[in-house]
Amino acid sequence: MVWKILWLSVLAFAFADCSHTRTVSAASRPRVLVLATGGTIAGSAPSPSDITGYRAGVIGVDALLSAVPGIESMADVKGEQLCNIDSKDMTDEIWRRLAARVREIFAKDEADGVVVTHGTDTMEETAFFLGLTVKPQKPVVLTGAMLPATAKNADGPRNLLDAVRVAASPEAAGKGVLVVMHGEIHAAREVTKIHTTRLDAFASPSSDPLGRVEADGVRFEREPRPSALSPFPPEAPLPRVDILYGHAGDDGALAEAALRTGAKGIVYAGMGNGSIPEQAEAALAQAAASGTVIVRASRSNAGAVVPAASSYMAEGFIDGGALQPQKARILLRLALARTANAKEIQQIFNADASASL
Ligand code: SIN
Repeated sequence: MVWKILWLSVLAFAFADCSHTRTVSAASRPRVLVLATGGTIAGSAPSPSDITGYRAGVIGVDALLSAVPGIESMADVKGEQLCNIDSKDMTDEIWRRLAARVREIFAKDEADGVVVTHGTDTMEETAFFLGLTVKPQKPVVLTGAMLPATAKNADGPRNLLDAVRVAASPEAAGKGVLVVMHGEIHAAREVTKIHTTRLDAFASPSSDPLGRVEADGVRFEREPRPSALSPFPPEAPLPRVDILYGHAGDDGALAEAALRTGAKGIVYAGMGNGSIPEQAEAALAQAAASGTVIVRASRSNAGAVVPAASSYMAEGFIDGGALQPQKARILLRLALARTANAKEIQQIFNADASASL
């Protein structure tokens, strides 16, 4: 009898322990929602050796997730298809939908982290837009691939697994929108695509990556610079802003053309510290005098555009800080939806924390 009671207590303890373990692991398992938007990561080519002649944005999110062995051991992962495009064709309408969906996911507590699969060509722009409009406190991670999903050594599955690991990691919270590619973690404001075809195509040229994804875990090596900006409403209609690429001999004709298209702002990707050839400067000064906001950025890949020639200040041009022209354009569009005052827009650029990089 004593033996039977002892045996029953051992069994009861064993079952109680098992169910306890299951409950704890189910409750503590991070939930990651993967929002798929297309890109090469969802690209398909006629043959596995074909790595350039493919169509981006073809394969659906379920197939992307099922090509990643072990993803389920990292998190409770669910997929959702937001669109399926080549990211060169990204639109304001998709940006708005994406920002609204990410906000909704966190507001309704649908996930602990979000991964956005995206084409690499405009990934940095979407990441920056999401950072400015959502300013998430929970992890939001963009990833993609340089080789199509059908390629023999496709890099998409590894990047997706890394991105899920980062999105599931508590240390990624509060670091803003992140880009995870080729084992590196970058801040949305700092990252850019620096190579046309290599697998390690992304870098943060004015700094280092924020961290890395290694075999034994996610490692952050530094904090991103905090932004003092409050989130911009993603639904506001965004005015037209054109980017002009500076070059020797620029006579200002394209600045005049930009005004004819109705641009409310121009980002001038100047030489070095945002220098502008004389004739182009004269055309831009005229545009500024008639209310178009001019931001000086740089065609150099790294470093900040800081106050320079006194004429630029007198003409009311804005220093774009360390933002690459394509990101300065996004911030200028969002800022113009708030104010047309150049001084206030300069404060917005300063508050984005990019000016001092
Ligand atoms: C794209 O940006 O959609 C195509 C290129 C890529 O994803 O690498």
